[in-house]
Amino acid sequence: MIKREKHKNKISAPGKIILSGEHAVVYGYPALASAINRRLRVDFSSAKDITISSNIPMGGGMGSSAAYAVCFSATQLLLQGKKWDLDEVNKRAYEIEKKHHGNPSGVDNTISTYGGFLWYRKEAENLKLFSRLTPKIPLPRLYIIDSGKPSEPTSEMITFVKDRLTKRKDYIKSIFKDIERTTRSFLNYLLDEESTRLEELIDENEQLLEALGVVSESTKDLILKIKRLGGHAKISGAGGRKTASGIILVYHTNDKKIMQLADKHKLNLSSVSLGEEGVRIERTG
Ligand code: PMV
Repeated sequence: MIKREKHKNKISAPGKIILSGEHAVVYGYPALASAINRRLRVDFSSAKDITISSNIPMGGGMGSSAAYAVCFSATQLLLQGKKWDLDEVNKRAYEIEKKHHGNPSGVDNTISTYGGFLWYRKEAENLKLFSRLTPKIPLPRLYIIDSGKPSEPTSEMITFVKDRLTKRKDYIKSIFKDIERTTRSFLNYLLDEESTRLEELIDENEQLLEALGVVSESTKDLILKIKRLGGHAKISGAGGRKTASGIILVYHTNDKKIMQLADKHKLNLSSVSLGEEGVRIERTG
């Protein structure tokens, strides 16, 4: 007897990188994020028949938990017979993120929901402002190098920064303000309204994240190696202090140099495309 396959719905949501503004965004400063070409997929026919697959590495700063929260919320919405509504998906995903991370900014779930490039700002718990934007310049090819999975989950890194803010308020606030300046320059760079160089933006952002204390010694060493070869790199996401710090966003005018470095040190390197589509219902065959 031929068994008929139940009709499966498929939903997918992208991972993300933060170009500038991680951590500061938790305290109401702006962040610039982009959806990337890594996705988490959910196939389901009922609440009891759900399969998840993903090519977003877990716990590395690429927004895997947010992509999961977004897909889960979208799946629930469809299982409840509700209409497809991105705002509702995003709202539900944020609640899931709160359970995981304690005090997230909401940038991860928002970029995974709406996709593209996003300017994001959490003004208050109940007022999160964001705007999709289209870069006015062709972006050069960017790479991701995996510095390894951090020993600390995102929630721990958020708490670490919170503790530092309590102990050294003026200093940490001044770092946040500098991060905001870099994030705004990044925005102007994307909109072609300021003649800043991508190299400088990446370097500045990394320096500030190091000053914040969210980059481990081994990751700093790796970034120094990239810089010595003429490249530019920054962590993206919550980072990590004790061992590794998750993914590093890398730019070099000569791609070959980065490939050679990755080869030499046996690093996991991949190119990444930005501005990808947000959560979507996949066409079913
Ligand atoms: O490392 P991730 O993907 O969890 O990114 C977290 C980004 C933070 O700014 C550190 C936290 C947040 O909620 O915005």
